[in-house]
Amino acid sequence: MARMQARRLRAAVAGATGAVGRELVGLLAARDFPAAELRLLASERSVGEPVQFGDRELPVERLETSALEDLDLLLLCAGAEVSRRWAPRAVAAGAVVVDTSAAFRLDPEVPLVVAELNPGALAALGPRHMVACPDGASLAAALALGPLSRAAGLRRVWAFACLSASQAGRAGAAELEQQTRDLFNFRPVRAERFPHQLAFNCLPRCGPFDADGSTALERGLVEETRRLLGLPRLPMGVTAVQVPVFSAHGLALHLELGRALPPDEARALLADAPGLRLVDDPAGEAYPHGLEAVGQDEVLVGRVRRDGGSEGGLALWLAVDNARRGGALNAVQVAERLASVLLSR
Ligand SMILES: NC(=O)c1ccc[n+]([C@@H]2O[C@H](COP(=O)([O-])OP(=O)(O)OC[C@H]3O[C@@H](n4cnc5c(N)ncnc54)[C@H](OP(=O)(O)O)[C@@H]3O)[C@@H](O)[C@H]2O)c1
Repeated sequence: MARMQARRLRAAVAGATGAVGRELVGLLAARDFPAAELRLLASERSVGEPVQFGDRELPVERLETSALEDLDLLLLCAGAEVSRRWAPRAVAAGAVVVDTSAAFRLDPEVPLVVAELNPGALAALGPRHMVACPDGASLAAALALGPLSRAAGLRRVWAFACLSASQAGRAGAAELEQQTRDLFNFRPVRAERFPHQLAFNCLPRCGPFDADGSTALERGLVEETRRLLGLPRLPMGVTAVQVPVFSAHGLALHLELGRALPPDEARALLADAPGLRLVDDPAGEAYPHGLEAVGQDEVLVGRVRRDGGSEGGLALWLAVDNARRGGALNAVQVAERLASVLLSR
């Protein structure tokens, strides 16, 4: 491990200019992360660009070998390709890596961690010195399913995910904004990041299809949820739809539990679970929705009701700020736990 300065860490964020990266840098400042030094890294395109860190602006540097020297912790949010290339190099240079991409989420040698759900998995950091964070939809699903599974057992899950444009990064949100402007100004609409017009449209496709007709995101939602819950054979079906909102995913979960769980009992379990906030008063028009989830540190859960499909059937609806709560906050919470371990050495 690199030498620590006055019991504070040397940390870097790679991908600091992206949808997740900007949220992450803001959270490190707001939560007073114990960093003696914070380097903000991105591609050549962004060198010198200022990124807000608390009341200061820090300049972006290029992600290159010299940027990894004397580093204790690297938070990676620059996509899977960048993670595959740079995570092993950072570890070889002496850093611990927290990765938000899909690159290592299913690697059995790398713990997949949601801070409120399975922090014990950090004990298995092992020689790889890396921690993977799940996608925002998987994180939301696992946070809600965890307490229900522990209380009543989980036989089967069907999920329907409505994913915001920013799940495709800054470019996804920018394309939705441009298409909306073009439509209102009677200009032709161009689709580049998404295969069809997303503005005022829903696309049953989040990423390329595989031979079975599923997408990597749908498969990831199944595999990451299974791994986080410690239920490797949980039967789970998913459809993910790209919807024309900038931020916050919506997620319908239909469960078959091992026993009938009255909705009031389920609500009490969800209300007590860390990382969740119960918003469930349909008569008073209180239920989770995207705009209410934006900027929040909790996953919102509501519409808890019996699902008539089976005896142990239960249905619920979640809303989560995908870049902040789903991506950045979990990485920061994991980094905070790692920091206390690293600083106690
Ligand atoms: N968006 C979400 O809802 C969400 C949620 C959970 C996890 N994640 C994961 O978080 C990661 C980042 O996603 P995002 O949505 O923030 O993407 P994004 O908005 O497209 O940002 C990508 C970031 O990576 C940087 N980057 C790209 N290529 C690079 C390279 N060759 N070298 C160094 N930096 C490079 C970009 O820098 P430039 O500005 O220089 O291009 C930018 O800072 C992805 O792996 C994604 O799976 C995303």
